[in-house]
Amino acid sequence: MYVYKISSFLEIQVKSSATLSFLKKIMSYLSKGREFASEFHGNEKINGEKLIYPAASRNQEPILQVLKRFVISDVDILGDDSPLFLEIASGSGQHLAHFAPHFPGVKFQPSEYDENVLGSITYYATNCPTKNILSPIVINITNDLSSYKFEESNIDYIYCSNLIHISPYECTEGLFRNAGVYLKSDALMITYGPYMKDGVITPDSNVQFDAGLRARDPSWGLRDITELIELGEENNLSLIDTIEMPSNNKTLIWKKN
Ligand SMILES: C[S@@+](CC[C@H](N)C(=O)[O-])C[C@H]1O[C@@H](n2cnc3c(N)ncnc32)[C@H](O)[C@@H]1O
Repeated sequence: MYVYKISSFLEIQVKSSATLSFLKKIMSYLSKGREFASEFHGNEKINGEKLIYPAASRNQEPILQVLKRFVISDVDILGDDSPLFLEIASGSGQHLAHFAPHFPGVKFQPSEYDENVLGSITYYATNCPTKNILSPIVINITNDLSSYKFEESNIDYIYCSNLIHISPYECTEGLFRNAGVYLKSDALMITYGPYMKDGVITPDSNVQFDAGLRARDPSWGLRDITELIELGEENNLSLIDTIEMPSNNKTLIWKKN
């Protein structure tokens, strides 16, 4: 007889080690699901409109260090020629709030599909000491950016964190299609999150995370960098750098040809 301890007050007795192993897998899977839910939705602290995503609080500084290598800003004040940095799927708005003061000559444009979080993004934009975050706009990235008054070959940077694996693949296709059309020549798209490589996900925690995402919505899941490179080629985008990040994430740097 084997004993599986579910909590300090609940134990289950099972007859075989196979059943015990199956039980462990189920419980690990369920706990991953809870972790995911609290990461982005269940554990937000709301202070007025302001949302705090624990994951964004943790990864904003490592991502900033990468941006400092790739975002070029020659001047310290906003002007007509300031580079335009468009964020897709801004979520709480924390990322741009953390980045913008380090690039006072760059114009940051947050955007979101979910109108419920626009208040939080506005909170962060309004309270930015360098005043270089524009008011958020609604963007569904499966639409053409011309629907939102963007002109072709006019954007200096497109940044997108944690959308590619937590949305249907049409969003990834829309992201790459729009980047290929609306970025300036030689301009960059920067994507952050966990990825698969050549059909393999590592480490085991990312395998479980992927399974949890797909169980939650079969159209979600980690995308394969090799397939993204092909999608990039179809849209005039080349992967020029892959940066390993904490917690088994990566930042991918794409350049418009
Ligand atoms: C996991 S959150 C990431 C938020 C933020 N980028 C971060 O890293 O904290 C994914 C975001 O993608 C947004 N999203 C989902 N579908 C979208 C779409 N079709 N177009 C643009 N954003 C979308 C959701 O509203 C959500 O805010």
